[in-house]
Amino acid sequence: MTILTVKTNPYSDQKPGTSGLRKRVKAYSQPNYVENFIQSIFDSLDGIEGQTLVIGGDGRFYNDVAIQKAIRIAAANGFGRVLVGRGGILSTPAASHIIRHYGAFGGLVLSASHNPGGPDGDFGIKYNIGNGGPAPEKITDAVFERSKVIESYRTLDTPDIDLDTIGTQQVGGMAVEIIDPVADYAALMQTLFDFDAIRGMFASGFRMTFDAMHAVTGPYAHAILEGMLGAPKGTVINGVPSPTFNHGHPDPNLVYCKEMHDLLMTPDGPDFGAASDGDGDRNLIIGKNRFVTPSDSLALLAANAHLAPGYRGGIAGIARSMPTSAAADRVAEKLGIEMHETPTGWKFFGNLLDAGRVTICGEESAGTGSNHVREKDGLWAVLLWLNILAVRKQGVDAIVREHWRLYGRNYYTRHDYEEVDAAIANNLVDDLRGQLAALPGRVFEDDLQIAYADDFTYLDPVDGSTSARQGIRIGFTDGSRIVLRLSGTGTVGATLRVYLERYEAPDGRHDLDTQLALEPLIGIIESLAGIRARTGRSEPSVIT
Ligand code: G1P
Ligand code: ZN
Repeated sequence: MTILTVKTNPYSDQKPGTSGLRKRVKAYSQPNYVENFIQSIFDSLDGIEGQTLVIGGDGRFYNDVAIQKAIRIAAANGFGRVLVGRGGILSTPAASHIIRHYGAFGGLVLSASHNPGGPDGDFGIKYNIGNGGPAPEKITDAVFERSKVIESYRTLDTPDIDLDTIGTQQVGGMAVEIIDPVADYAALMQTLFDFDAIRGMFASGFRMTFDAMHAVTGPYAHAILEGMLGAPKGTVINGVPSPTFNHGHPDPNLVYCKEMHDLLMTPDGPDFGAASDGDGDRNLIIGKNRFVTPSDSLALLAANAHLAPGYRGGIAGIARSMPTSAAADRVAEKLGIEMHETPTGWKFFGNLLDAGRVTICGEESAGTGSNHVREKDGLWAVLLWLNILAVRKQGVDAIVREHWRLYGRNYYTRHDYEEVDAAIANNLVDDLRGQLAALPGRVFEDDLQIAYADDFTYLDPVDGSTSARQGIRIGFTDGSRIVLRLSGTGTVGATLRVYLERYEAPDGRHDLDTQLALEPLIGIIESLAGIRARTGRSEPSVIT
């Protein structure tokens, strides 16, 4: 088999963002765009000869095309074996597990997460390292540098391989193993959770709806919830992955899962509703009459994790991304365990998990996970919730209220302004950054006094690296907080994210409307940053 060295011209825009390189399918379809990026990844890695690489994606449009290219380039670059999920399917957490389970060198995860798919939608490629987690900035920076000067890539002149048949095929000197995308992951879940207790709960009439959003978790949820746990058929809806997500937006939030949310607010609705996103790493949790914010969910899961067999010995520590509410911090304090605040993006949790300093991690953006893999994990969060409900024999609402009475409530919301002109967004952030030094001490609305204002810099306690400019934080003396940052995953223009949080003590009022409770903070950030005036938007595109 001759290895072809193909001449190419570099692209200037292959800079991986918060979670890999996300672009429009149209961008990815440019000549050699995929090839350049994958070759740049391989060029940035040492010692890949003879090693195993995992490849899989969320099944979105272009997944199969990119996988065929990736397989040839991997073979031409000397990998000894690739493991590919049947049909090119692997949820992001399952890919993380497969990498770890089979001791692979790393993996290519093909997804644009919760972004729409299809010819006019988005695509993405992310490289994960041998611990199963997203490559750290040291590697993603090297990949970007390489992509700017790349002159050729290596590939083979071989026919497409059959992605749909379990078994081993040969491409050049490399073995391609097509594996069941669900089996290993399902087995892992069985080691973590009390499947008997959850099965018993379903058997006694507990009803749930799981919305797979026509995305990757369909096969996983069918196998685990309806298969292994005996949930009635029909519990999983929209369970067949579609390349366009049935022309939908596979983002499990209250906008795209409104129907399910409304159903859970009715007396006849199910007891529990959940959803996951395009690639299966995010989760939405709704109980009867109670939406659980992701920040609260992180705190609740951490406080109750010991009820699941996998965490019976207790958890070592908790980590949350900086914009995530401080609800989990109160749990860590009570448990006397470590608490870490990291920049946005799962890659910053990897070192803490590897070092055994934290067990559970979470982000306000509907991501929660633990040390079982090195990605956030949507179904894992759903199963841990089910385990907790089965053991506590209470509903979600009662458990949430009890939690607030014990720890207090962190009212929390995020306002997103999507597809804002990039120059306007950058100027807005720069101007706000310029005001930060003068803000501490200023008082708003009579009693809201700014305690600190900075642009978050993270010092990784494990490897000593620092990451600067990770988002503007304005903290108040009463524990309230405003965070403002630009998204690192958008593909068009800029997305401005404003995160608002207010703490209410255990004996305070826990039944206020969230947006009303946060109104004073919304007013303050508007007066400081002039979001509406500058962007011309009268309201956020999405409120979560
Ligand atoms: C967003 C979320 C972040 C998450 C990332 C990948 O990134 O805010 O928490 O890790 O997607 O799913 P952002 O667009 O804010 O950079
Ligand atoms: Zn995702």
